[in-house]
Amino acid sequence: MEQRQHGSPQESRPRVVLGVSGGIAAYKACELLRRLTESGHDTQVVPTASALRFVGEATFSALSGRPVSTDVWESVHEVPHVRIGQSADLVVVAPATADILAKAAHGLADDLLTNTLLTARCPVVFAPAMHTEMWEHPATQENVATLRRRGCLVIEPAVGRLTGADTGKGRFPEPEAVFEFCRGVLARGTAAERTDLTGRHVVVSAGGTREPLDPVRFLGNRSSGKQGFALARTAAARGARVTLVAANSELPGPAGVDVVRVGTAAQLREAVLEAAADADAVVMAAAVADFRPAAYAEGKIKKRKDAEPEPLELVRNPDILAELSTDRARAGQIVVGFAAETDDVLANGRAKLARKRCDLLVVNEVGEGKTFGAEENEAVVLGADGSETAVPYGPKDVLSDKVWDLVALRFP
Ligand code: CTP
Repeated sequence: MEQRQHGSPQESRPRVVLGVSGGIAAYKACELLRRLTESGHDTQVVPTASALRFVGEATFSALSGRPVSTDVWESVHEVPHVRIGQSADLVVVAPATADILAKAAHGLADDLLTNTLLTARCPVVFAPAMHTEMWEHPATQENVATLRRRGCLVIEPAVGRLTGADTGKGRFPEPEAVFEFCRGVLARGTAAERTDLTGRHVVVSAGGTREPLDPVRFLGNRSSGKQGFALARTAAARGARVTLVAANSELPGPAGVDVVRVGTAAQLREAVLEAAADADAVVMAAAVADFRPAAYAEGKIKKRKDAEPEPLELVRNPDILAELSTDRARAGQIVVGFAAETDDVLANGRAKLARKRCDLLVVNEVGEGKTFGAEENEAVVLGADGSETAVPYGPKDVLSDKVWDLVALRFP
């Protein structure tokens, strides 16, 4: 983070401006605010007049532990319309209505929040929430494109139940996901570094494929999807458009990420190849089954009385990583693989990198508390150029960011 000179520890806490605009999802901003303050962020809430018709000033004030600024005409001697934006480390507008996106895109400044957006020089995140028709309207889509082009981070709304009985795209993402997104943005270095993947499309595969034997059984593996989801989350936080192809993961889709849910290796292959067509990078973090049952039994396979089970015949699945690496969908596309090894970790990793012809291979040793299902990981990232980058034991987000650093270095 950019260094600021502050007097007391209180003042050195990251300063977040939480802009709340007038949509029903304003109540979810309270949960986001609670998470921000509990995790040590000095948070100033700037609601619009219509946001205050959904949630009262007292709620925002109590949760943030400070007065709520609503009006450019309050405390004019402190010039709040300039000061709040200038001193922020992050501005997040959550929920962002179609109206606030339009105002921000056009530089209108008719209240405190829109003034703050014009004076902020820190990263600005919008978490839109509105009805599907409003989100899909060309006016909104063009405003979003304008904001993104200028370096703002606009989280894709989630798909699901909207106000009333209808469902569709436009739902406010889970407050926790928006919080994680903001934390990711704050954790990056300078403003340019924070959004170094802006304009890039990246594809990440995650989770573990399942190859069905019959309607109730499958051959699977222990991948939780956490590493792939962390890669998707961190890429989105750095400004990338992200397609996450998730195989059998229980994890909720990270904010701002397009998630394609798949089951088998064949489905994963199809989804990844389709998304890779215009991608700048593809990261294969999924544990893909090398083999699948030769035949699928339409009915449940029954025990045969007094007889040994039939041997299981398996056939090979295509190697998606090798296919992506050999037939690059675009010139200069960067392809990254993962390898979990138990012995001769680096030697096996080097051999795998050469065999699969990817640009980078993230090699982890399979062990207690690492890799499968764990929150933390330790790895060595091998480069086709002979480079070797050790990433010490730590959160999967940190390893993810290191992977994106290495990918970004290789972009043509
Ligand atoms: N992978 C893939 N398609 C497959 C199998 C694996 O794309 N059918 C990808 C994984 O997503 C991962 C990398 O290949 O990025 C490493 O997978 P791994 O199963 O370790 O490779 P193998 O060549 O099968 O190695 P091993 O001989 O250790 O089984």
